Amino acid sequence: MRRVPMWLAAALVAAAGIAVPAQPAAALENGLARTPPMGFNNWNTTHCTATFNEAMVKGVADTFVSAGLRDAGYRYVNIDDCWAEKTRDAAGNLVPQHTRFPHGIKAVADYVHAKGLKFGLYTSAGTKTCNGADGFPGGLDHEQQDANLFASWGVDYLKYDNCNNQGVDAQVRYKRMRDALQATGRPIAYSICEWGRSDPKVWTWGEPVGNLWRTTGDISDTWSSMIGKAHANDDLARYAGPGHWNDPDMLEVGNGGMTDTEYRTHFSLWAVMAAPLLIGSDIRTASAATLAILTNTDVIAVDQDVLGAQATVVSSSAGLVVYSKPLANGDRAVALLNETGASATVSTTAAAVGLGGASSYTLKDLWSKASRGTTGTISATVPSHGTVLYRVSKGQLTPPPAGTSQLSALSWTSAVNGWGPVEKDRSNGEKAAGDGKPLTIGGVGYAHGLGTHAASDISFHLGGRCTTVTAEVGVDDEKTLGSVVFQLWRDGTKIADSGVRTASQGALHLVGDISGGTTLRLVVTDGGDGVNSDHADWADAKVTCA
Ligand code: GLA
Repeated sequence: MRRVPMWLAAALVAAAGIAVPAQPAAALENGLARTPPMGFNNWNTTHCTATFNEAMVKGVADTFVSAGLRDAGYRYVNIDDCWAEKTRDAAGNLVPQHTRFPHGIKAVADYVHAKGLKFGLYTSAGTKTCNGADGFPGGLDHEQQDANLFASWGVDYLKYDNCNNQGVDAQVRYKRMRDALQATGRPIAYSICEWGRSDPKVWTWGEPVGNLWRTTGDISDTWSSMIGKAHANDDLARYAGPGHWNDPDMLEVGNGGMTDTEYRTHFSLWAVMAAPLLIGSDIRTASAATLAILTNTDVIAVDQDVLGAQATVVSSSAGLVVYSKPLANGDRAVALLNETGASATVSTTAAAVGLGGASSYTLKDLWSKASRGTTGTISATVPSHGTVLYRVSKGQLTPPPAGTSQLSALSWTSAVNGWGPVEKDRSNGEKAAGDGKPLTIGGVGYAHGLGTHAASDISFHLGGRCTTVTAEVGVDDEKTLGSVVFQLWRDGTKIADSGVRTASQGALHLVGDISGGTTLRLVVTDGGDGVNSDHADWADAKVTCA
């Protein structure tokens, strides 16, 4: 009988009060990796080149601190193959390669530890490691001696590879090193790097052996490689949980072979899959865009969620894929992936992702940071190779406070605008955020309001608590052309319509009855003249609520 995953057991108990029988304690009991490991590994960026050396590893540790990566949760600074000399010393010990690591490995580990970080090392469950040309000594038949040496150096994490394994059974080899690490008495996170190669599959036996296990061969810095690794992991959710994770390989974000849209997809998918987040690019020289992806704390929170559930595929059709990951507070992370060559709408529902039963939901877009409400449809236009990642919560939309509020002081639940973003307390201006001027209609200035451009559609959650909306509307004086129509909507009912307003007119006072309404919409359409310059001001726009 298949065991019920712990996260599912916890979720069932929380959701329905269903009693789940106590589980046998099967996980590797080293107390580590309660959430997926986060850190760095040099392999994807350096391979065996001379760039990989002491200075690099120290520089990476420095950058963890200076670039905010440590604060974002990254802890492990791990080094990969090629750190050792080709032969063991007279006592049979591994020797750090003297030109790369002139002060040895312990000195580097000490440096990393002094920064409040952890240090990881690599070897292979074979006679030699994987780097073909050089063939550094591996751990097979040296398990305890090597584990003792690693522990004496202060190693906190071991990646144990699969090359040159002499045909010895994988479970035998990986359990031997597990036991050797345990016997050192030092807590060392244990990464099984067996690539999902042998039968029975590593995910069926990995939980009591390692903290994570590679499910695939090596990733490379291309869209097809990355998306292939993700899909190889799609059906393995039931094997993941606190202390034991599927590992679709290290991140390529920032290595240059994919677009930032593709790297956001990479990071989003690894997060919903509760995959280890091991940065594989040279963060000492990372671009602002790369750092922004790697330090998106909302996305990291999805990966690091304490429930430890891996997303499952809700639907997959013609390259449009929906993933849902249960989160500890009852929310779901929902990834809408578009693998096709053109922009597409990807849709699902709250019920389909496992969140039925509420009359409203909040969708927070974890990349744009915009939140909006929905009664159940979860849908987005997703660029080619892009992913929209939502955190979906039941209910929780907050109505405006009692009294009269400027709409520019409230948060909208969605906003569409024809020319850059909607501006608060200034005109639309150009496309950049914040580049508008003081709101002015017919020579009259307004301190508050919303600056928009047709076609625009802004929604506010009212929660049935409000009575009246008023606004002074017109084309902003920053344009001499342009004509627009302003409409106010309470749920499905139009409650005010300005008719066509042109740039030569002063403001019109609009009033709408929003009693009992759930949502207020401010809509601006083109005035029908076919001319642009439709800079439309909702000046002094305010709601009165109970
Ligand atoms: C194997 C592993 C890689 C890397 C190299 C190093 O290919 O799967 O992740 O560690 O070995 O040689």
